[in-house]
Amino acid sequence: MAVTTQRLDVERLRTDFAVFDELVNGKPVAYLDSAASTQKPRQVLDAMREFYEHSYANVHRGVYTLAERATAGYEGAREKVRAFVNAPSNREVIFTRSATEALNLVAYAWGLDNLGPGDVVVVTELEHHANFVPWQFVAKKTGAEFAHIPIDDLGELRLDALDGIAKRGNVKVVANNLVSNTLGTINPVEKLAAWAHEQGAVMVVDAAQAAPHRPIDVQALGCDFLAFSSHKLCGPTGAGALWGRRELLEDMQPFNLGGEMIRSVALDRTTWNELPYKFEAGTPAIAEAYGFGCALDYVSAVGLDAIEAHEHELVVGTMDALAEIPGVRVFGPPADRRTGIVSFDLEGVHPHDVAQILNWEGVAVRAGHHCTQPLMTRLGVAATTRASFYLYSLPEDVDRLVAGLRKVKETFGP
Ligand SMILES: Cc1ncc(COP(=O)(O)O)c(C=O)c1O
Repeated sequence: MAVTTQRLDVERLRTDFAVFDELVNGKPVAYLDSAASTQKPRQVLDAMREFYEHSYANVHRGVYTLAERATAGYEGAREKVRAFVNAPSNREVIFTRSATEALNLVAYAWGLDNLGPGDVVVVTELEHHANFVPWQFVAKKTGAEFAHIPIDDLGELRLDALDGIAKRGNVKVVANNLVSNTLGTINPVEKLAAWAHEQGAVMVVDAAQAAPHRPIDVQALGCDFLAFSSHKLCGPTGAGALWGRRELLEDMQPFNLGGEMIRSVALDRTTWNELPYKFEAGTPAIAEAYGFGCALDYVSAVGLDAIEAHEHELVVGTMDALAEIPGVRVFGPPADRRTGIVSFDLEGVHPHDVAQILNWEGVAVRAGHHCTQPLMTRLGVAATTRASFYLYSLPEDVDRLVAGLRKVKETFGP
């Protein structure tokens, strides 16, 4: 096939992932659902097991050796997150359960106290529900207006709409994903952050789909908050991170209450711990945060630039191959303005049927609205079929996707 990938030694990387020895319906799995969650290398799994077996206790509170080891592992992971996104300080890095929880934290802890009638909350038409619904909810609660930046027919943000949005009131927050999970569009976050700051607004970046696939630098992006998840970059579920500008985090009230986020409690008054603990209530996901750090080491050692280049070649090959299949409509921008995600429709066949037949062939893709229902409305479909790649994806996976789609067409007739 036309796709060649040179920079990553994918065959070698795949030996880190036991899942690729699995047979699905008698066939090796072509895992094309990494945008939903990635597979886990044994380096991360072994490190977590080792941590649980030799360094596990609750963090921060104990003075004994195991607690100190656990705390060092947990805080070491925080430093790895800081370095991964080039944040100025690890006090600005908060561990959460997921990107969703990180975005809810900002919407509640910042939004409820800073928004009101006359203010405008701006999201985009291609936002994941995790960065859409919390803002819609908080806007309703506070009386702020809820506006969105529309997209054009290629799935790119229409920045010409910004002036009109600014006229609707005081723009106080702009919340946008850096990469769309449905279309793969790489969004112009730096421009949006500059515009947000001109309006006196804060810029909230959902990097759940960007951080696994391209280098992230919060200072270069010029944003105020940035959220991402461990499980989309080879780490465990149950761990995510929020980076926020220190002065904003200092001014915010806590999101959850109890445990480590408290400094002192009296019958009439409670005071909060310092950053980042103010936002980490209860026992955190200790081993998962540790595993998150190990996953950051893993993807960093592979190299974000190499991962991005590898996915780009796969996307080019996929888009070229899909263009040859009559009845396939690919959504979103050209390959050079997207990451490793290709969403498409096969005329006359529901995406769930497409995904089911592909599964018979051992090809795992996602079918559905991908938690982007406003985007589905804009595209005029209820669902799409989505293939998404990662550092372990092979050109042969693309071949098998394409062969599977030909089978789907045979099954459903001309
Ligand atoms: C763009 C985007 N934002 C947010 C999320 C939510 O991430 P999580 O489920 O890890 O909270 C996802 C997950 O698919 C996503 O793709």
